Amino acid sequence: MTLGFLLMSGGHSSRMGTPKALLDIGGETLLSRIARAGAAFPERILSVNDPSIPTPEGFARVEDVYTDCGPMGGLHAALKAASCDALVVAPCDSPLYSAEAAAFLAAQMEEGLDAVLPEDADGRVHPLMGVYAKSCLPALGAHLDAGKFKLMRMLDTLNVRRVRMPEAIGERIFENLNTPEDYRALRLDALRPGLEAIAREAGRIILSFGSYDVEQKEGHANFVTSVDKAVEDYLFDALPRLVPGSAFIGEEQENDALTDAPTWVIDPVDGTTNLIHDCRWSAVSIALLENKTPVIGLVYQPWSGELFWVRIGGGAQLNGQPIRTSQHPFPTALVAFGTSPYHADLAEASLRAALAFLQRCADIRRGGSAALDLAYVACGRLDVYFELTLKPWDFAAGALLVTEAGGRFINPLGDQVVRFGSSQGVLAANAGCAQEALAVLEEALSQ
Ligand code: IPD
Ligand code: CA
Ligand code: CA
Repeated sequence: MTLGFLLMSGGHSSRMGTPKALLDIGGETLLSRIARAGAAFPERILSVNDPSIPTPEGFARVEDVYTDCGPMGGLHAALKAASCDALVVAPCDSPLYSAEAAAFLAAQMEEGLDAVLPEDADGRVHPLMGVYAKSCLPALGAHLDAGKFKLMRMLDTLNVRRVRMPEAIGERIFENLNTPEDYRALRLDALRPGLEAIAREAGRIILSFGSYDVEQKEGHANFVTSVDKAVEDYLFDALPRLVPGSAFIGEEQENDALTDAPTWVIDPVDGTTNLIHDCRWSAVSIALLENKTPVIGLVYQPWSGELFWVRIGGGAQLNGQPIRTSQHPFPTALVAFGTSPYHADLAEASLRAALAFLQRCADIRRGGSAALDLAYVACGRLDVYFELTLKPWDFAAGALLVTEAGGRFINPLGDQVVRFGSSQGVLAANAGCAQEALAVLEEALSQ
């Protein structure tokens, strides 16, 4: 039995608002990504009705004979045009569809069968990822003539084998892309391997420095080392290449104002005073902002190797495992704070607030890295964290970690609006502690 590959270029993409086949994922269209999954098949067909969709190399273009009948019309036209005996169907809005899935399904087809249909772990059948033999043509024609466009109904009358996808291929091939939010999630997740590799390399640079040249910056006890600069130079080079056209805001350089464009907001070493003292409690903090809001956050602690990752709408993780904020009630909360060391004028207010927390909660901590404090609130090791002023690179990644992990991230001062383009006060807490923490902070600051 000879098998070919049928790429369905999709219908009207109405919820997406733009043809799904042409969406860009990591520098390639969804269409060419799925086309690659069919590379091993000698005959390859593109089912297409939209003239704006190009034909991938090696594919024959086939338009519907029965127009506006949905996937059934595409399948019918392709089987009619095909010279092979059966077609393995791949929908172009299933971005994680793979060559392995196509090969596995093709291997399940045999003489005497009309179709092979994959089933997910819940027993749901996915007819748009099936394998269909030419023997389906009479039934397809009859259903189309009768105006019956439901593939599953037609399959009831045929000889069909249902197969469960093997674990090695996984269930994610069944995910499909319908809305702009689905697309954003896919686009951002595609950045993860590259971004994690960059963060680990930044960590390696930090660990590789035996001694540091320390320079005093503007303000009280504000230092920069040769490590901060080397890591920032590396990130400045590496990150914008991950997202072509993206801007970059980093602690150790002159920055333009934040715009709506994709922008990396980074702190090469959060916890420089710790680094100078070899306290081994510092982190690389990287956030990607779109429309002035963090959409990805990553905090990496090179000594422990702990890597905190978050994508908007995708939950927060520590070394690949989901994390949540704690459930501790306020009286038993462990409260971290920052002393805003470069703003001596805030010292008294910071310590007054810390004292108020010490009197009402379990205890207080001052670690020396805002990014790690926020990551620790996100994973529930700390319950509350506050600092009266921080820069966006200190909190951009941590803010998203906390909120995606179920916590609250609040600007407790002024108009309380969280702004990622300027300095602001920060209060992060598990959801149960947030209101009491805010009240304590407000009271301490009003004295
Ligand atoms: C500092 C640390 C510290 C916090 C300061 C930050 P840096 O960052 O996060 O914990 O209290 O406000 O500026 O200067 O080490 O990158
Ligand atoms: Ca910092
Ligand atoms: Ca820093």
